[in-house]
Amino acid sequence: MPTRSRPTAAGATAIAACAVVLAFVGSTARAQDLRVTDLRVEHATNPLGIGDRAPRLSWTLESAQRGTMQGAYEIRVAADAASLAGKPLWDTGRVASDSSVLRPYAGPALASGRRYAWQVRVWDATGRASAWSAPAWWEMGLLAPTDWRARWITPELPRDTTRTMPSAMLRRGFTIDGRVVSARAYVTSHGLYEMQLNGRRVGDRLFTPGWTSYRKRLQYQVYDVTELLKPGPNAVGVTLGDGWYRGWLAFERNRNTYGTDVALLAQIVVRYADGREQVIATDDQWKAATGPIVASDIYMGERYDARLERAGWSSAGYDDHDWRGVRAGGGADSTIVAEEGPAVRRIQELRPVKVYRTPNGETVADLGQNMVGWVRLRVRGPAGTTIKLRHAEVLDRDGNVYTANLRAAKATVEYVLKGGAEEVYEPHFTFQGFRYVAVEGYPSEMGPDAITGIVIHSDMRPTGTFATSDTMLNKLQHNIVWGQKGNFLDVPTDTPARDERLGWTGDAQAFSTTAAFNFDVAGFFTKWLGDAAADQLPNGAFPDVIPDVLSRGGPTFNAATGWADAGVIVPWNVYQAYGDARLLARQYPSMQRWIEYMRRQAGDDLIWTGGHHYGDWLAFATTNADYPGATTDKDLLATAFFAHSTDLLARSAAALGKTDDARTYRDLFDRIRAAFVREYVTAEGRMSSNTQTAYAIALRFDLLPEALRPRAAQRLADDVKSFGHLTTGFLGTPHLTHVLAATGHTDLAYMLLERQRYPSWLYPITRGATTMWERWDGIKPDGSFQDVGMNSFNHYAYGAIGDWMYRAVAGLDQDAAMPAYKHSLIHPQPGGGLTHAEASLATVYGKLASSWTVDAGGLTMDVTVPPNTTSTVRVPGAQLERVTESGVPVARAPGVTGARQDGADVVVEVGSGTYHFKRSS
Ligand code: BGC
Repeated sequence: MPTRSRPTAAGATAIAACAVVLAFVGSTARAQDLRVTDLRVEHATNPLGIGDRAPRLSWTLESAQRGTMQGAYEIRVAADAASLAGKPLWDTGRVASDSSVLRPYAGPALASGRRYAWQVRVWDATGRASAWSAPAWWEMGLLAPTDWRARWITPELPRDTTRTMPSAMLRRGFTIDGRVVSARAYVTSHGLYEMQLNGRRVGDRLFTPGWTSYRKRLQYQVYDVTELLKPGPNAVGVTLGDGWYRGWLAFERNRNTYGTDVALLAQIVVRYADGREQVIATDDQWKAATGPIVASDIYMGERYDARLERAGWSSAGYDDHDWRGVRAGGGADSTIVAEEGPAVRRIQELRPVKVYRTPNGETVADLGQNMVGWVRLRVRGPAGTTIKLRHAEVLDRDGNVYTANLRAAKATVEYVLKGGAEEVYEPHFTFQGFRYVAVEGYPSEMGPDAITGIVIHSDMRPTGTFATSDTMLNKLQHNIVWGQKGNFLDVPTDTPARDERLGWTGDAQAFSTTAAFNFDVAGFFTKWLGDAAADQLPNGAFPDVIPDVLSRGGPTFNAATGWADAGVIVPWNVYQAYGDARLLARQYPSMQRWIEYMRRQAGDDLIWTGGHHYGDWLAFATTNADYPGATTDKDLLATAFFAHSTDLLARSAAALGKTDDARTYRDLFDRIRAAFVREYVTAEGRMSSNTQTAYAIALRFDLLPEALRPRAAQRLADDVKSFGHLTTGFLGTPHLTHVLAATGHTDLAYMLLERQRYPSWLYPITRGATTMWERWDGIKPDGSFQDVGMNSFNHYAYGAIGDWMYRAVAGLDQDAAMPAYKHSLIHPQPGGGLTHAEASLATVYGKLASSWTVDAGGLTMDVTVPPNTTSTVRVPGAQLERVTESGVPVARAPGVTGARQDGADVVVEVGSGTYHFKRSS
């Protein structure tokens, strides 16, 4: 989150700079340099199943010329690519605009289930045109409940709601009697589903239909199944798992959260060359049975008995006379929604780095990385042999696998061999967080080929890279990325391993900006925020976890400060990263309701006291008799977050053109700020909680009057110096280094970043961590484990430091007034022991990158700015006359304008292109 004061000034500078850059461009741009690529619809490439009736279109410009800006664009849309030129359904004509992101479709109404082709061309600011882009497409989903002809079906199988039952298999035969031009499957379920057609798996999506607030929003998926059909008899088969719907969820003893019965709603729509349409839908003709998946549960694992496989069950000709029937119920209703986020998929495979025997005699495969997913097992042996796989994140001090921290999650997979040829198995409706796999019962000496780690997560486009001259920091970046991979599995979870795996809001708000550097999380968070709004309580409180499986509408597990604020902070951060104003507008009413909730709690004095809060969760604690740890008063935090969320709401209102609201909430923010200072800050700038978190938050949220800022900043610096380390928890950590660096203490920020002893970000790495830990001391300096009740080794919250690494260490920052990096701020802050840092980010406009190296000759900076954007670049610690760009004095360098001395730095304005700055010493 940016600090409050700067944006307007920076925005104005950017616009001025832009004008200068454009003037420069006019003389040199060549049309053939200008290309349009990377066409996206909403946040995806060529998506199937768009639910929005006015989908938004984005594209990227490519240009070899510096300073390229878009002056105009033209979009055309047609029924197919061949008709784009001759018979478009919609042609915008030439639209004078520099906007290339999220342009809403505004042509004739789009039809349910139809595919549309589209392309774009642009003119640069000097009026030269690009060629038309290569055509891209999107396909509409089912836009109305009446487009569904399917009915919900529930297998009529033995039922015991107190335990995990065998996964149901559902099947139906049908006939294809003509030449098929296209076929689509539209599918959703209560529980998880996996579909097969004619013996082949449909699509590569996992954990479908995903996890949403099922009673209010249930997603369906769309698959192109044209190639899976064949003339004559066909069959479709679907397996249903318990999943989040009715499996164990939210600690031990809770199941059937959304219902007791699994069910399926699916229809395959076949279009023939002769114009006929055939729909194979779920109805009372389907048959049901159970098979090899004896039990499958997210927390507990899976038991698969290959002897119970039903060969050919999803192909035509299978004899299902002994199968049971299904109960057919109602059809689709308005809770069924199209997908907005990326699918969960298999993303990569890991081979064991070692297979060995532990001191207590277990055979263990070490995958070398704490990962999330499952094991693919290869084995040959006699029928009935049972292999047991137990998953663990860490080893104990003796080198044995340690699973006590998984609490009630059994995280155990059992495979019973059918015998004969080599068997290859992967589990279905379960995932585990693990690095080590203990294998029992393997029928022969187990080689490394027996085990492959299958890494799964939401298939987000990787967008960020970060590297430095310090290998420990590079490992930290690695661990942050893996923390994100492991916990962005459809929902942003706290941990992927123990009996929790919930969408904790506090963790998500802390990590959301870092997340948006590493991966494209626009669609991922759009989906999750839909559930945040859906699960908001009538009184305006956001639940502590989303989807809400804890508060169940009751008085607890909601409205926690710094947690519920995710409902405001995350939409704002997503808007900042991707410029999605429609998302911000969609969330706005829920954001406003949360502010009004806090306003009511706070009452006339605007100080929110009481309530149920986690506070600065897991802050530094000691057993020292005179100093129990860094405890920040929860009341102080509650009013601070009340102020901050109000500030973000005021900014959101301004961004959306709601000027009255902007004024109202700006005024409210000013008054909360005054109340906060009155209540919690002395005239000398000392805060009632004299903690790093209190100072960091008050300064970052701009809660202190100008006169008190330096004093408070000094107290923060003094506190950091006196401890020699951080003391912050979940709420303070994201802000600490930002505030230190912004208040003249970059040296202390680097000290914290580079520190290797406990507590620090690097300490876990000295203990072999390959992901972020939940606690600063998950494994204590003496080698013992922290509290078994809460000790996850894959928790991303402290990975929030990544935001500072990208923005300050490497220097890729944003101008809040021009979101999505339309105007970026490149201002690296070299420090600590680093001689080099670099980062890149695939923004919605293209690649933005910053790299710096310090050596005896001085400092060099390489900067890349994407077309259609501008950037203010700050060369740190430099004199104007000693800075060159590609060998030319910076004041005269082509495409570089506004060069000026600003204190100890040199600042310039640039448009798109790559630049090489050198500051000689
Ligand atoms: C989770 C946290 C979460 C917290 C609430 C824990 O059990 O793992 O990450 O934010 O509860 O304080």
